[in-house]
Amino acid sequence: MSAVRLKAATPAVPPATEYARAGRAAKFILSKTKLRPKIALVLGSGLGSFADEFTDAVRIPYQKIPNFPRSTAVGHAGRLVIGKVDGIAVAAMQGRVHLYEGYSAREVAFALRVFGRLGIRSAILTNAAGGINLDFTQGALVVIRDHINLQGANPLVGPNDERFGPRFPDMTQAYWSSYREIALAEARKLGIAAHQGVYAALLGPSYETPAEIRYLRTIGADLVGMSTAPEVIAARHMGIRVLGISCVTNMASGILDGPLDHAEVLATGERVKGQFIALLRAVLPRIAAEKN
Ligand code: HPA
Repeated sequence: MSAVRLKAATPAVPPATEYARAGRAAKFILSKTKLRPKIALVLGSGLGSFADEFTDAVRIPYQKIPNFPRSTAVGHAGRLVIGKVDGIAVAAMQGRVHLYEGYSAREVAFALRVFGRLGIRSAILTNAAGGINLDFTQGALVVIRDHINLQGANPLVGPNDERFGPRFPDMTQAYWSSYREIALAEARKLGIAAHQGVYAALLGPSYETPAEIRYLRTIGADLVGMSTAPEVIAARHMGIRVLGISCVTNMASGILDGPLDHAEVLATGERVKGQFIALLRAVLPRIAAEKN
């Protein structure tokens, strides 16, 4: 009987760090375009078509980008578009991924890590949200002043990579004040009645109960949605400055009579898309001109 020979143990290859994985994705993106984007845009539900207006654009489906998660939500195209808006090089996500799709907070924030590795220092994040503040109406645009993260998750949980940022990053200016002022001023110039408000981020995917909305109002939330907070946390960890703008696609649960439905959210997004895009176009050159 021949002796059983044990295979020599192959040395374990340590998994690539998030820093390295984001670096690989960034390198791939840079190989597809000569542009060097300065500002990142995350285009939420229904807003993705802004990226169809870019010039010199390259469109890269998320599944082609190494390590990039794929979006499954209706109304989210799932492409990264690098192009120019009035001469400014930008990188836009047509659609994002959410925690409710089953992704971890780290995965949800991964695109921001890639933007950081691309050398981007400013990001504009947009989303659809339910209006809690009774001064808001369906279709209103709201500049996010701050957020309350109630998602029970944070993309920085786990070992910290100092190359991205510190273990305990400051969040006092989660939404950069001069960017907020720019957005409000440009909205005024365009005749858009823009508000400011605090965004409560919930896990979803079920909409809130009326009791949850009453609770959120009590704790100081003006808006409610299921995105944005993890991306903003990762952005601030890297020192990226953030502008957040919500479109109030519906008044939150229990505020008006009748149920909430996703078709209504998409329809309102569609209705105010023109205004939203005009505002983004007006804001971009002013953010590009700010010293970082
Ligand atoms: N709740 C949570 N997320 C949302 C809503 C809402 O009412 N509208 C759009 N996104």
